[in-house]
Formats: sequence, C-alpha cells, structure tokens
Amino acid sequence: MTQFPSLTIVDHPIIQHKLTILRDKTTPSATFRQLLKEIGLLLGYEATRELPLHDVHIETPIEAGAFPGLDEGRLCFVSILRAGNGLLEGLLDLAPSARVSHIGMYRNPETLQPVEYYFKAPAGLGGAVTIMTDPMLATAGTAIAAADKLKSHGARTLIFVCLVAAPEGVAVFSARHPDIPIITAALDERLNAKGYIVPGLGDAGDRIYGTV
Ligand code: PRP
Ligand code: URA
Repeated sequence: MTQFPSLTIVDHPIIQHKLTILRDKTTPSATFRQLLKEIGLLLGYEATRELPLHDVHIETPIEAGAFPGLDEGRLCFVSILRAGNGLLEGLLDLAPSARVSHIGMYRNPETLQPVEYYFKAPAGLGGAVTIMTDPMLATAGTAIAAADKLKSHGARTLIFVCLVAAPEGVAVFSARHPDIPIITAALDERLNAKGYIVPGLGDAGDRIYGTV
C-alpha cells in the first residue's frame, strides 16, 4: 500500500526481474523492446482484473451451458506515442481483438509541457473500457493531457498502465483524475532537475528505438 489510493504497484517477481534488466543502461534496444512487451502483457493482466464478463452459451462435448466470456471489442488500448507502443505490443498479445487509439505527444525538454501532434480514436469510447499506456509517469503532464483528451472524446472508464512512476507525477495525476486507476511496476524515488525519474531507466522512447 502507498499513500495513493488509485495506485497499484505490481510487485510480482517476474515483473521486477524484467524491470531491473530494463533499468540497466547496458541493455540493448532489441532486448529492451522484448522485455517491455512481456511486461506490457503482465501489467495488462492486472489492469484487466475487473473487466465485466457475460454469459456465453455454448455446448461442450458433454453438455450445453452458459460460461463466462469477455467482449474484447469493448476494450480500447491507447498508446501514448512513441514509448507507449512498447507496452501496447504486450497488451495486444493479451487481448488481440481490442481496438487501438494513438495519441502523439512529446514533452518539451525546456518547459516539460506536453506537445500534441497526433490523435486518432475509435468511435464509441463512451461504452469502452479504455486502457491508456505509457512507460513513464514523470511530471504527469503527458498522462494528464492524454486523459483529458480521451475524456473530451467520451471515454468514461479509464485505466492507466505505466512501467515506472514518480511520486510527484502520481500525486498530480491522481489529484486531477482520481477516477483513473494507475497500474505500475514501480514507484521510484523522485524526479531530477530535468524532470527525469530517479533511478528510472532514462528516456524510454530513446531506449526502445535506439535514438540516444
Ligand atoms: C516520455 C514518456 C512520457 C513522458 C513522461 O515521452 O514516454 O510520454 O515523457 O513525462 P511527463 O510525465 O513529465 O509528461 P517523450 O516526451 O520522451 O516522448 P517519446 O515517447 O516520443 O520519446
Ligand atoms: N520520460 C522518460 O522517458 N523518462 C523519464 O525518466 C521521464 C520522462
């Protein structure tokens, strides 16, 4: 438990082990991408724990019956570009029929404010369970802008999946969007003067795509 009611830290040993390899500055991009995808699936498993099930009427080889089923089409994953794509891959392995939205945003390195350059979302977000994803929750400027945008397009049930969060970002995000659960693998110590998470893993997008 933390002081943040909307925060869940998934401390499963497999996730923690993979995250340590991601933090290691010598881990190459190919390995980084693969592990991020694997963690995306594992965090997605936790994020989808409360999804509603409905009765599906089928016949087993033995008898007919009603069994629990999921409407994957009601799920919408939202990747906050670029780095969100790393976790999106794993989420899609978990629920391949989910719809996908992309929000292009980068953080201005001087002001640390998010700059939006792309938005595409499916119609009907109001009836969807919308899971937005980005590995890093630092100042939270990006995640807040993304959640604002999705809500303005009708999203009502939102969940945020990230990999590493800073306490400063969790505080600001959960104050602005207390209705949005945050699922993360780690709550790190703090932000540094440049708005990077300490100890963190560096710039997630650069680590994924080798653009350092
Ligand atoms: C990183 C990260 C988040 C944002 C977090 O993106 O992937 O989107 O910074 O910072 P914040 O919480 O302070 O807003 P970046 O701006 O590096 O863009 P990129 O994914 O295109 O590399
Ligand atoms: N964005 C990143 O990619 N890493 C950080 O530590 C902070 C913002």
